[in-house]
Amino acid sequence: MLEALNPQPQDKILQLIQMYKDDPRDNKIDLGVGVYKDATGLTPVMRAVKAAEKKLWETEKTKTYTGLAGEPAYNVAMVKMILGDGYADRAASVATPGGTGAIRQALELIKLASPTATVWLSNPTWPNHPSIIKYLGMNMAEYRYFDAATRGIDFAGLIEDLGRVKAGDAVLLHGCCHNPTGANLNADQWAEVAKLLLAKGAIPFVDLAYQGFGDGLEADAASTRLIAETFPEVLIAASCSKNFGIYRERTGILIALGEASRRAITQGNLNFLNRQNYSFPPDHGARLVTMILEDDTLRADWKAELEEVRLNMLTLRQSLADELRRATNSDRFDFVATHRGMFSRLGLTEAQVNILREQHGIYMVGDSRINIAGLNAKTVPILAKAIAQLAA
Ligand code: LMR
Repeated sequence: MLEALNPQPQDKILQLIQMYKDDPRDNKIDLGVGVYKDATGLTPVMRAVKAAEKKLWETEKTKTYTGLAGEPAYNVAMVKMILGDGYADRAASVATPGGTGAIRQALELIKLASPTATVWLSNPTWPNHPSIIKYLGMNMAEYRYFDAATRGIDFAGLIEDLGRVKAGDAVLLHGCCHNPTGANLNADQWAEVAKLLLAKGAIPFVDLAYQGFGDGLEADAASTRLIAETFPEVLIAASCSKNFGIYRERTGILIALGEASRRAITQGNLNFLNRQNYSFPPDHGARLVTMILEDDTLRADWKAELEEVRLNMLTLRQSLADELRRATNSDRFDFVATHRGMFSRLGLTEAQVNILREQHGIYMVGDSRINIAGLNAKTVPILAKAIAQLAA
């Protein structure tokens, strides 16, 4: 049987991790996978997470199964963090293994409810989105998003393409901190998109993997909240990997908002999908998140550290934009300072990305997406100089 298997394409982002590890150069710079790193290159365990783990070790009496949907307190705390109050009667939810697990379960739910629905993706998007959709054999379409010339949003193109969405199609929207571009809709544009999609009868499917990494924990939820208020049905796939720094604990949630009268059936279907795919979702990360969100002191400390992380990335953005301005003697890269989240797509060619890797040991995704958090005060000028040499 196994001889029938064909090689699978490598994940372009994960492949970079190995290439970076295998590179013997001391001065190599990793701007690949979306993992936060401090100035020393460490992805730290957040203070509140450490404190919650200690408390959990002291107080946890059993590791027996939780519920199929996860521990109910986690789902309540997460719905509140993402949407605020007032969704108890409309929100069905399940804990999932990370944000990817939530995306996978959301797509399976769409497939279960509406097998011929088309899922619309921004062009570009996180490569795993189309990959999973293709694997599930679902219909997929793209809407324009990124203006390669300005590195901003191609809003006219986006509106034109979303004008072709059919009733019942799902439209995947990055709730904040667009991956891979770093370019985000402003509040007016979100309102216009919501109005158009509502008129079309579309189901918004929000991927919220970076809440707290853009403009702040509350500000980054604003567009998701607008969508939740506007639409009768919404899917939200959220991740705690980045904002709680618990990547390997695989902690995410899928929230399905719908008619209150249908909530129990939706919940039953979410539970069913968990059971089919992995039975009970991982608990450790979810439990830590719940402990942090429910405890005033831990929550305040977590928010403070998350804010430090966010401001650190903003400082790096500004200094990279400044250095690039100096090094290229142009404003071509000013967009780096206005982008938000971990990523910016620089607009370099794949050949230029290869030169940066081969000649300078600078690793970024082939589409020239950089992880801002991979930089520090020492490497910002090195990157700027290497890019300026390309442009020359
Ligand atoms: C990324 O885009 O780098 C992250 O979301 C990590 C991943 O799994 O690809």
